[in-house]
Amino acid sequence: MFSGKNIVMGVTGGIAVYKAVDVVSRLKKLNANVDVIMTKSATEFVTPLTFQSISQNPVTVDMFNEPKQWDIQHISLAKKADLFIIAPATANIIGKVANGIADDMLSTTIMATRAKVVFAPAMNTNMYNNVIFKENMNKLKSLGYEFINPGSGRLACGDIGEGKMAEPIDIIDYLTNLFANNQLKGKKFIITAGPTIEPLDPVRYMTNYSSGKMGFALAKVAQQRGAEVILITGPVNLEPPIGVKLIKVNTTREMLNAIEKHFDDCQVLIKAAAPLDYRPVTVSGHKIKKEKDEIEFKFIKNPDIAAHFGKIKKNQIIVGFAAETENIIDNALKKIDKKNLDFIVANNVLTENAGFKSDNNIVTIIDKNGAKADYPMMKKEDVAKVIIDKVIEMLNC
Ligand code: PMT
Repeated sequence: MFSGKNIVMGVTGGIAVYKAVDVVSRLKKLNANVDVIMTKSATEFVTPLTFQSISQNPVTVDMFNEPKQWDIQHISLAKKADLFIIAPATANIIGKVANGIADDMLSTTIMATRAKVVFAPAMNTNMYNNVIFKENMNKLKSLGYEFINPGSGRLACGDIGEGKMAEPIDIIDYLTNLFANNQLKGKKFIITAGPTIEPLDPVRYMTNYSSGKMGFALAKVAQQRGAEVILITGPVNLEPPIGVKLIKVNTTREMLNAIEKHFDDCQVLIKAAAPLDYRPVTVSGHKIKKEKDEIEFKFIKNPDIAAHFGKIKKNQIIVGFAAETENIIDNALKKIDKKNLDFIVANNVLTENAGFKSDNNIVTIIDKNGAKADYPMMKKEDVAKVIIDKVIEMLNC
């Protein structure tokens, strides 16, 4: 599982540093290549020489004095990493990463990497429960960083409570599961999200209520399972998951063009976006004046993106969504046919607390052979897991 994997281990200053030595030792026994970056305060607890002896690799502490055999400073470790584990992770390093501060070798390398980053926090129980720390942790979680929960017990400071770094064996188990979930490595996904907008004049546009949450959740889950993800989104107010390539578009035609650039070498296209079906025939060059009591617009049909790629696809799997308010299943089945989809996720967008904008969705998944599975109301991230699992099954990986 770990054979040939490059793991970069960040070690920050806390009494649990002694356990980090055991984590490195276990990873080495599992044939991983481990590079250790220590903060200056970590070296107050254990010397770099200890980690160097166990990892059999040079240890980096200083930004400007790193070992010479690496190609280019922090960037080489950031690129080389298949996975980053920060253990122990202090409130300080978590706060820095959450706020974009990169002022030493470790924080700089974490900021520069596209690999999965996992924190194993260790700190005083009051610090762990401090709302500022919790906000930082939740922000990072929402961006796709992962956390291994600390244990409870007597802490080095004498307090009793949460904050003890997870045991090395539990950290290894966690990392093992992460690699086991890497089934989509080598697969390229295009995922669309959010609404599109169509301008009426220089200051006004038409759009819909899509928030992008469904598409962003799909991008996060596919990326976590190892896929290369291109997330093409209309205007939304969401932070993209880490490790995902984000392309922002406005109109339906821009969304189609953006997909076109990547479609040939992708294996999966998931159309969770809600592109506008029509656009005004003419867009006024100047702000439309409110002189008349009534005003008429003429609309022309936008291209059907899913149908376009359904027509030209080779081996790609195409997943569509059906936002319906009535005859959900019949309408969804028609869309599978018309757009040549492999399966469709039908959602009743009139259900309260589900569909557009909400954090939840109630879906029925129907495949091109007519097989149908109903799901209860679930968080969009859980719906995303069901969809990605189905894609994995179809890809046979
Ligand atoms: O963004 P959220 O707030 O999280 O809400 C999620 C969602 C409700 C938008 C999402 O779950 C959803 O249902 N997305 C599809 C919305 C939609 O446009 O449905 P449709 O039935 O009109 O279109 C069917 C399929 O064709 C969709 O996959 C759509 O992306 C695609 N389509 C539609 C129009 C168009 N011009 N080109 C397309 O490719």
